[in-house]
Amino acid sequence: MLVVMNTSPKKVYNIPVDKLSKIEAKKELIRLAALISKYNSDYYKNNNSIISDYEYDILWKRNKLIEERFPSLIQINSPSLVVGSDIDTDFKKVKHLEPMLSLSNIFNKKDLDDYLTQVCKLLDLNNVDNLEIVAEPKIDGISASILYKNGNLMIGSTRGNGFEGEDITENIKVVRGVPLKLGLRDCPELMEIRGEVYMNHEDFIELNKLQKKNGKPTYSNPRNSASGSLRQLDSGVTAKRKLNFFAYTWGASSNYFDTTQWEARKKLGKLGFILNEPSKLCKNPNQLIEYYNEIIEIRSSLNFDIDGVVYKLNQIDQQKKVGVRTRSPRWAVAHKLPAEKGITVIENIDIQVGRTGSMTPVARLKPINVGGVLITNATLHNYHEIQKKDIRVGDSVVIQRAGDVIPQVLNVILSKRKKNSKKFNFPKKCPECGSATLSETLSNGELEKTVRCSGGINCSSQVIENLRHFVSINALNIEGLGEKQIRFFWKEGLIKDFKDIFLLEKNNYKIKFNLSNQPGWGKQSAINLYNSINKSKKVEMYRLIYALGIRHVGVQTAKLLSDYYKDISFFLKEVSLASDKKTKSYIDIISIDGVGPKIGNSVVNYFNNKQNFELVKRLIDHLDIFYKFTNTSGLFLSDKVFVLTGSLSNMSRNQAKMSIEKLGAKVSGSISPKVDYLVVGSSPGSKLNKAKQLNIKILSEEDFLNLLQSN
Ligand code: IVH
Repeated sequence: MLVVMNTSPKKVYNIPVDKLSKIEAKKELIRLAALISKYNSDYYKNNNSIISDYEYDILWKRNKLIEERFPSLIQINSPSLVVGSDIDTDFKKVKHLEPMLSLSNIFNKKDLDDYLTQVCKLLDLNNVDNLEIVAEPKIDGISASILYKNGNLMIGSTRGNGFEGEDITENIKVVRGVPLKLGLRDCPELMEIRGEVYMNHEDFIELNKLQKKNGKPTYSNPRNSASGSLRQLDSGVTAKRKLNFFAYTWGASSNYFDTTQWEARKKLGKLGFILNEPSKLCKNPNQLIEYYNEIIEIRSSLNFDIDGVVYKLNQIDQQKKVGVRTRSPRWAVAHKLPAEKGITVIENIDIQVGRTGSMTPVARLKPINVGGVLITNATLHNYHEIQKKDIRVGDSVVIQRAGDVIPQVLNVILSKRKKNSKKFNFPKKCPECGSATLSETLSNGELEKTVRCSGGINCSSQVIENLRHFVSINALNIEGLGEKQIRFFWKEGLIKDFKDIFLLEKNNYKIKFNLSNQPGWGKQSAINLYNSINKSKKVEMYRLIYALGIRHVGVQTAKLLSDYYKDISFFLKEVSLASDKKTKSYIDIISIDGVGPKIGNSVVNYFNNKQNFELVKRLIDHLDIFYKFTNTSGLFLSDKVFVLTGSLSNMSRNQAKMSIEKLGAKVSGSISPKVDYLVVGSSPGSKLNKAKQLNIKILSEEDFLNLLQSN
């Protein structure tokens, strides 16, 4: 159903925009604002959209068209004026005394010239050199507003939609750099201090280590960790998270704060706040550019993430004169920094062998600090990437880190190449097990880009990766059996294949291997592990099929197979009969809707391997496998919305689009709150930042491929 449409022609929402009277338009804008806000809140709070994107976009577009026709009717709560995400969370709401605005961006010298010319025009200045501007770093954290009354901290809030934020008073009190009482007697009676809450690099790394240790999800960057830590319902948790606060401006103030931005900054310092340094009072455009270039140079030595510099008119009366737009002030602008790059040396190239034998080359780098993050590895994607870029051990290379993306090698600096350097020989044998390598022929007749190890269950790497897959969340979901533990048991010879997991507890006594006495294990952790292993024994049929790690069999295919055969013994009987392609069993499996010959052959080949067949037969003796109809009619990614930015190295944009659409998802051209995933290739555009602002899940090319493959 389309929300704006209705069968009755008399209703306001049925009248085309160009036929609306002013009174009707006003009514309609109120209705649209309420509806859009409701859908936003369903989306943000419940992660649950009750209308399609298409319907949502129609509402937005209608709202925009009406506002364009009747600008005087634009409401204060109009969706087109909302800054950032609308809020609807478990936190109480707080109204800001003055709106918290965003900043408009400039990207180059020309944008800067245009900005300064515009400001001079508004100020009736004929020479840009008469303009004083304060330049300071733009910290990549989350903004907060703190209200002080008679010098005492009263309320802390997030930005929210710009007019109303979340009440985080208890949490802001435990952030470093937030005074509970202001340090000056003559400060204004009422004062809204604005600034950025952020986490510094060391604390971010420590927090992720701890999260990992406790089996909790890690944060992808310091900004997300700051946001997650500040928005904890228990301020005790926030206190442990080591957050910091920089003050950079003020909102409402009951008396005149100061005459210049520069002096006001100093005053903020005297009140007890930490300032974002280095800052500079610039007297002409050249000084601004000098400052910008200095910041690029020192960026990697800063202990926190920055994504730009901010220029602010120094004279407060000039700030007032140029004023603000709806979303951002005219008196300030953000000059964005380029993607972070660095030059380092490839010390080695290792080959990582994945679950299906795929051999991924990884560059081990001479450690380099790029934008405050120590980079030691970069992915080289595949054999072809190395060939194409002629990447060699010992080469000096330019690497790039863009947001959350795994660092990439952009290019080799050939002028620095040593005379005796040798072309990298991609191994002809698996470095883990010595088996021969192979590349498969794709359905279009071309050879795939990935080189694989042919060792199967004789390759230790593949075995360990397979075990990891077997216990993973969509498979047997065995908590407490992570990579570290699997490696440990594998090394001790206690887990060699799937069934050994279920013999662990018995063997613990039988072979006098007492888990509780092993380093890193206590009595309780051993009991917990056995409990979760025992719990996993009762397993739904499709989970078991997925857990086996058969090539091309993701969750969705496993469901199709499970829905078709319904019983594991029958399934095993049928797939073994299917090894003879003349049988009905073979025709059956390749004819299952959604399976087809490629996947069907892969399943049949898997069980045709005697070792695999025996392995599964012995495994199922330990399990209690049940079948439940899984309803496979919905596609794996149905209704999800993807946006792509930057270029992908494993596939063209069109191929990516096709793979996404095949799984039931849509590809959109722009970032909006309705987007679920942003796939980031190399040299991403501004979509990356927008997506971060909306907390949209960012997928590197590798994450994206994993997601596609998990189907
Ligand atoms: S001044 C009226 N100064 O960037 C707007 N903002 O992209 C006043 N930010 O919402 C903002 N560092 O959260 C200002 N030195 C700085 C900043 C800064 C980071 C954030 C702030 C703002 C966002 C806009």
